[in-house]
Amino acid sequence: MAAESIYGDSLEMLESTMQYLVNEIQKAREQIKETIGMDPVEHLIYRVKSEESMREKCVRKGLPQTPESALRVLRDAIGVRVVCAFVSDVYSIRDYLLNLPDCELVEEKDYIRNPKENGYRSYHMIVLVSGSVYAEIQLRTISMDTWAALEHHMHYKKEKTAEDTLITAELKRCADELASTDLSMQTIRDMIRG
Ligand code: GTP
Ligand code: MG
Repeated sequence: MAAESIYGDSLEMLESTMQYLVNEIQKAREQIKETIGMDPVEHLIYRVKSEESMREKCVRKGLPQTPESALRVLRDAIGVRVVCAFVSDVYSIRDYLLNLPDCELVEEKDYIRNPKENGYRSYHMIVLVSGSVYAEIQLRTISMDTWAALEHHMHYKKEKTAEDTLITAELKRCADELASTDLSMQTIRDMIRG
């Protein structure tokens, strides 16, 4: 007999809820494209957290490896990341999703308005779909995404060296410069659109 899934018998529900969110994001994308004449989404990735990562996260957080932990306590079994062209697109897509009658905001972390100390920027929200399934949606710009990918590698750097302090400072500087450029790009776009 196969080992019991940490998601119990809810895996299909997770997959279909994720697909629902992705479809809605595609609709938002079309709607915004029609309004402003530009595609707001550069790319879109999504996944249900693997059995192995979910179990590992439960252990790391000191939670029992149960469907209750995986579906109710941790609320990021479904992860969707929307990478946008401009900062305003991030908020347009956020607003679209929160206007859906069956999509309720349960937690918001706006690291765009309140960047993390290391320079990390991104808009995160946990939504509850149809009163029953949680999902984590991250929205960010292309430059925020590039930065996060590079910074992520820092955590897997082979050995700690004296250079680490410099790297951290340089990453922070780049994050701030990218944010400033995102702002300028937004201003230029708004001027072009009139
Ligand atoms: P966990 O769910 O335990 O990961 O923490 P949390 O819920 O307190 O996290 P938060 O909403 O701040 O972050 C969730 C996810 O955002 C992480 O798993 C990462 O993918 C991403 N993230 C958050 N902070 C950083 C950061 O400083 N650098 C990078 N590269 N990614 C980050
Ligand atoms: Mg989380």
